[in-house]
Amino acid sequence: MNKLKHLAIIMDGNGRWAKERKMKRTEGHKEGVNVVRDITKWCAKNNISFLSLYAFSTENWSRPKIEVDFLMKLLEKYLIKEASTYMDNNIKFRVIGDMNGFSNKLRDLILSLEEKTSKNTSLTQILALNYGSKDEIARAVLKTKIPDNITKNEVLNLIQANLDTANIPDVDLLIRTGGEKRLSNFLLLQSAYAELYFCDTLFPDFKSDELEKIIDDFKKRNRRFGNI
Ligand code: FPP
Repeated sequence: MNKLKHLAIIMDGNGRWAKERKMKRTEGHKEGVNVVRDITKWCAKNNISFLSLYAFSTENWSRPKIEVDFLMKLLEKYLIKEASTYMDNNIKFRVIGDMNGFSNKLRDLILSLEEKTSKNTSLTQILALNYGSKDEIARAVLKTKIPDNITKNEVLNLIQANLDTANIPDVDLLIRTGGEKRLSNFLLLQSAYAELYFCDTLFPDFKSDELEKIIDDFKKRNRRFGNI
């Protein structure tokens, strides 16, 4: 049985979920927040150590301004309202991504929730905000002092230590909801040996019983990490 330490989810399909109901796309994002809360609590109760959620990519800034503004406001409200969810369930909150892209208010809310939850010991929930793997790798390389004559493994270790995910184990299972079969610049290095699972369910309809079935399947998979 494989152990699941780090689960990552690309939360896709909010817009289509809303469109199917003749609602504004933003209603899908609102509903997505409820799923984020439920899934996060479920992971904490089921001994998963790290849950990474792709909430806003470096590419998402190119969406219409009205949707970007809505997502930023939704995020602000989320960070205020859900503080109790993290504390009541002993969940640590972390953000990966380039925080320079955000308003001072949003940055302060993020830092304050990270600080408030830093001693919690069940799940670490990692929200990817203004995150893209290519951007993360470029930022890490710019921070890394690379001495002459070091091995490939040493250089990789130095770069990994400067990634946003330093000290977080690699992804074991990566799920994408919403039917598309691509990684969209999410945790590319960290998912080098992740098991991948693509499901058609739109994110607002993604419930913990479906997650449980996917994890059951993951536990039975034969992970060889390049070995035989
Ligand atoms: C992709 O679906 C989803 C996003 C870009 C935003 C994800 C945001 C949430 C799940 C809610 C906010 C979460 C927090 C923690 C505040 P899409 O809009 O691209 O859907 P589509 O492919 O159907 O258009």
